[in-house]
Amino acid sequence: MQKLTITIDGPAGSGKSSVARRIAEVLGYVYLDSGAMYRALALKALERQVPMDDEARLVALARDTHIELRPPTSEQAATGVKNRVFLDGREVTEAIRTPEVAQAASRLATIAGVRAVLVAEQQRAGAGGGIVMEGRDIGTVVFPQAELKIFLDATPEVRAERRWKEHREKGEAMTVEEVLDEVHERDKRDRERKVSPLVRAADAVLVDNTGMNVEETARLVVMLAREREKEVARAAGKE
Ligand code: DC
Repeated sequence: MQKLTITIDGPAGSGKSSVARRIAEVLGYVYLDSGAMYRALALKALERQVPMDDEARLVALARDTHIELRPPTSEQAATGVKNRVFLDGREVTEAIRTPEVAQAASRLATIAGVRAVLVAEQQRAGAGGGIVMEGRDIGTVVFPQAELKIFLDATPEVRAERRWKEHREKGEAMTVEEVLDEVHERDKRDRERKVSPLVRAADAVLVDNTGMNVEETARLVVMLAREREKEVARAAGKE
């Protein structure tokens, strides 16, 4: 069966990473978390104290940075890690999962030149198909020709609660209200930016998983993927 390119876009806390990882596991596809690339670059910029509005330096930094995503070890997978992230050869899997890095990533993601560098990397990584890539612009910009596009969403309150639970599991003290504010601020910036804003592609399937868990959501997308795999195989046979 020919393997597809599956894109999953949606706002923070919509369950993209957990769902995408699970789908990739069931289908035997590669999973790629594009947000981790923006986060890794943001971490480097914060460490070097590059201001988030210094576009020229941030674009130069992006060009001079090597970000690699790898599957987690079984120990890491058991603790919820979905992609290992290496920044210029140094593992930053945990270091990029802070609210500070998330906000910085959302800010540098507004810069067209930064996006161009990371989008090119993402297109290279997914060129062979058989990939589930998640982010904000994967179905609209990175892989507009993808065979299956999903737009995941849930109410802001449920999305904030999911993020809050993640922080709590890591022992970080944040109130649900603080997380809700962080999610609101980031969503607003991600949706309103001029370049590649978070928007549902016209041909994306909208999945509102407010009342669904990861397994239920993944099962639904896997069903859609199996249908598409058959359609693609049938169309190829007719050529
Ligand atoms: O998915 P995430 O929360 O790890 O992403 C962090 C930030 O990176 C997000 O607020 C916006 C940006 N991002 C983006 O602009 N485009 C993507 N494809 C993925 C993430």
